[in-house]
Amino acid sequence: MGLALGLLMVQAQTSQVAPFPENYAKNLVLYGMGDRSDGKSRNFYISPQAIEAIQKGLELPVGTVMAIETYSAKRAPGGGFEKDKSGFLLRDKPDHELHVMLKVAPQTALSKAWVFGAYDPSSRLPQAGVNPLKDCLFCHTEALGNDMMFSFKEFKQFALSGQVQRIDCPLPERQRCPPPSEH
Ligand code: HEC
Repeated sequence: MGLALGLLMVQAQTSQVAPFPENYAKNLVLYGMGDRSDGKSRNFYISPQAIEAIQKGLELPVGTVMAIETYSAKRAPGGGFEKDKSGFLLRDKPDHELHVMLKVAPQTALSKAWVFGAYDPSSRLPQAGVNPLKDCLFCHTEALGNDMMFSFKEFKQFALSGQVQRIDCPLPERQRCPPPSEH
């Protein structure tokens, strides 16, 4: 019931799209990096004010931007992907995919209100074939208990330690990785 209500209120917010975050690699802070079994390696960025808020025990503030950038790994000659000496994927080219979330003012005290966007980082144009109003929200509501943020636990760890976190997952694509992060 609580979740269904939350879902409705979240949906009421989705008339907008998150804009392209200009200069995101400079203006946002890298808090995590993650490899997946399909040879994708990602960088996770967030607004500096979100780090300050979490350090003070506050919620992610309205205006928080999160961006996730994807690279394809180098293919190994014998199959699979090339890895560095720590066992992490060796990155080849950036993918034409930048996923963005922007926290907007909630309409009620209960709603976790985010808008989404998907861009080609090289052209800064919306990613072809992606509808950010439909394609992102449903999956991210699984993380509703953590402000729609799957990597909340790792982000918090980063905010407390200053150490860029590993957000690796043995599953391909955007599948949610077990164990789900705790509240
Ligand atoms: C099928 C599920 C799924 C869909 C669809 C999906 N995501 Fe995610 N997203 C994830 C998971 C799981 C993570 C955690 C990082 C990881 O495992 O790579 C994540 C991470 C993120 C993050 C980093 C913050 C966080 O929540 O950890 C952003 C930003 C993001 N996604 C934006 C988007 C956007 C924009 C779309 C639509 C274009 C989208 N996502 C579609 C599952 C999904």
